[in-house]
Parts: sequence; C-alpha cells; structure tokens
Amino acid sequence: MHQPVITGTGVFTPEETITNAELVKAFNAYAESYNAEHAEAIAAGEIEAKASSSEEFIFKASGIEQRYVMNKSGVLDPAIMHPVLRERSDDEPGIMAEMALDACTKALAQAGVDASEVDLVICAASNHERAYPAIAVEIQQLLGAGGFAFDMNVACSSATFGIQAASDMIRAGSVRKAIVVNPEICSGHLEWRDRDCHFIFGDVCTATLIEREDEAQNPLFKIRSTSCATEFSNNIRNNNGFLRRALTSGQNLEDRRDMQFMQEGRRVFKEVVPMVSAHILAHLEAEDIAPESLKRMWLHQANKTMNDFVGRKVLGRVPESGEQPNILQDYANTSSAGSIIAFSKHQSDLAKGDIGVICSFGAGYSVGSVIVERL
Ligand code: COA
Repeated sequence: MHQPVITGTGVFTPEETITNAELVKAFNAYAESYNAEHAEAIAAGEIEAKASSSEEFIFKASGIEQRYVMNKSGVLDPAIMHPVLRERSDDEPGIMAEMALDACTKALAQAGVDASEVDLVICAASNHERAYPAIAVEIQQLLGAGGFAFDMNVACSSATFGIQAASDMIRAGSVRKAIVVNPEICSGHLEWRDRDCHFIFGDVCTATLIEREDEAQNPLFKIRSTSCATEFSNNIRNNNGFLRRALTSGQNLEDRRDMQFMQEGRRVFKEVVPMVSAHILAHLEAEDIAPESLKRMWLHQANKTMNDFVGRKVLGRVPESGEQPNILQDYANTSSAGSIIAFSKHQSDLAKGDIGVICSFGAGYSVGSVIVERL
C-alpha cells in the first residue's frame, strides 16, 4: 500500500464580485417591476406580490458579504437575473475546463510537478456543463496529463468524495499522481429571482494534487484517512436532468422553479448539522484521534452559524479564532469548492504533526471528511 499525500492546491477566483448591496438593489428593482407588471393579479389575490430583500437579513442569516461570479452584468440586470456567458464552439475549451486549467496549474506549480506526470484527473463538481465527453477528459488534454479522467457529482461533497476516490487509487497503486478539480459555476443553477436563496452562491474553482508520499518532492499533508456517508433527502434538489423534455412533454421549462437549485433551508440546517458533527466525531474516534487534539477544521462554506454549531459540537467548546476558518464572507457558498478554498488559504501556519479535518456536506444528503497531518 502507498501513502497518499497532498502536495499542492490551487484556487481560481473569478474577476467580478457582487456585494450584498449590489445584489439587493438588483433584486428589489426586479421585484418592483414584477409587482407593477402583475398589479391586477396581485390585487385580485391570484398571485403573491414579491417581497423585498435586505442586506441586513443576508448577513445575519448567512455571514455572506459578497460573492465572485463569472458574469456580473446579467445577474444584476433586473430584466435578466442570471449570468450571461459566451457560448463556446466545440473546438474551444469549455468554460469549466478553462477555470479548471487555472486552478490545476497553480496546484502543480506549488507541488513542483509537471502535468505530464499526472495520471488521473477527477472533475468533481455539483454540475457539469454537458453530459459528455467528460469535462475531466477535456481538462486532462488541456493540461497535457496522461492516464485517465472522469467526472463525478456528489453536489457539495464532490471534492471530499473525489479526494477519497483518488487517495484510494493511490493507496492501491492504480495511479501515482492525481488531481481532483472542482469548477463550480453556482451562479448558473441559482434562481436569482428567489429572495429566500438569491444570496447564497458564488463561483470558483479549486484543485488538489495528491501523490504517493515516496515520490513527492514537496509533501504538505499526509492523508491519514477519509470517510464518506450519504442519506437520501429531497431538501436540497434540482430536477434539471437530461430527461426533462421527455418527462414534461415539451412544456416551457424556462420558468419552472424546480429546474434550478431548491432547498428547505431551515430543515437542511436542522438535519445536516447533527449528521456532520456525528460523522466527524465517529471518524476521529475510528482513527484514535481525540477531538481536542485537532488543530484545524476546514468546513463546507454554506452558512456561518452552521459552521459555528459544528465546530462547537466537535471540539466541545467554542473554536478559537483561526481554528475553524471561514471564507464564505468573501466567496459565499461555492458548493464543493468551499472547504478546499478554506484549506488552501489557511494552512501554511500549521506545524509538523498538526492534525486537521477537511469536511464538506450538502445535497444527497452527503458528508465527506478527510483527516490530514502536516508533514
Ligand atoms: N431578505 C429579507 N428577508 C428574507 C430573505 C431576504 N433575502 N429571505 C428570506 N427572508 C425572510 C423569510 O421570508 C422569513 O420570513 P417569515 O419569518 O416572515 O416567514 C424569514 O426571513 C426567515 O427565513 P428563513 O428561510 O427561515 O431564514 P433562515 O434564518 O433559515 O436563513 C438560510 C436562510 C438559507 C440562510 C439558512 O436556512 C441556511 O443557511 N440553511 C442551510 C443552507 C445550506 O447549507 N444549504 C446547503 C446548500 S448546498
């Protein structure tokens, strides 16, 4: 058996940001014009008027202050309210592959590894821009990597599940150097016209390079152990699958709410927090690691209060500043990439032997944890 180690991480951050103030202004302009357009039906009680959004609510409910997006003008145009991206020809790199190339190149540079040495690329994300060929195979070609590549989707847990898959293959000897890459264009599956969730997502791409310890020039973290779990729930759901046209007999799907991200936020909160805390505690126990000896937790970045709860439950006390770093104030929820952004940006101060846990959770429900030790 070979020991897998993390030797590099990379983060691609889009150039454009949307602050809560900008977002709320656009939403409220959209709501006003919707209400004016439907004034008669609203007055007749046939449809409900759209309530306005507020910056105070967004920050208090989530801890989010801004988000990065691949296209700002479309999202903020009250007549559009979604990103507008240039359609690529089949001969050009796709947008997800382009984001991935940037993040992977950064991870490879940190590790001092040439792309041609990589023999596995997993594109693990909550959405893929086409059905096939796999985005991962396109990334493999753009990078100049060898071996093989495939896409996988476990929603917000895609990165940790991908790390488990890659680590297990390295342990078994079927691959030597693997990249797990997470291009997340969450702005594309968010309903920006829904006040209850219009603030929660942002766009980003992260990459993690994993190698055999005995071949790594710059080992950063030993992957001590991984653990994944799933339990079916409809509380986070998106029905936009490939059978949508067949199943809906050609109805206009443009405005069908279930063709975008939907959630029962309160229920998710209540059900996922205990599931995640119990999962991390059981994983630590199985590895004989006392929770109080954990030096860092890089958690999924959906909601600050949620992370505060998980941190308190796992450590048995309020985490000290820096023990459980959040990046969601700047990036919002970036699905599977969130815990990897936190890991990438908040690890250089750890000392040899320090132990931490990367943990993501979300739709499925799914939860994945990766226990790492600084080398
Ligand atoms: N501006 C102002 N008020 C708003 C609002 C907005 N943008 N959105 C909702 N509200 C109102 C609601 O209408 C509700 O009003 P009511 O009490 O009169 O009915 C009130 O604020 C509370 O709404 P609620 O949805 O219960 O808020 P919340 O405190 O649960 O926060 C989330 C909402 C989504 C931030 C929170 O539930 C959450 O983070 N859940 C987990 C999400 C998660 O991890 N999802 C995984 C995604 S991958």
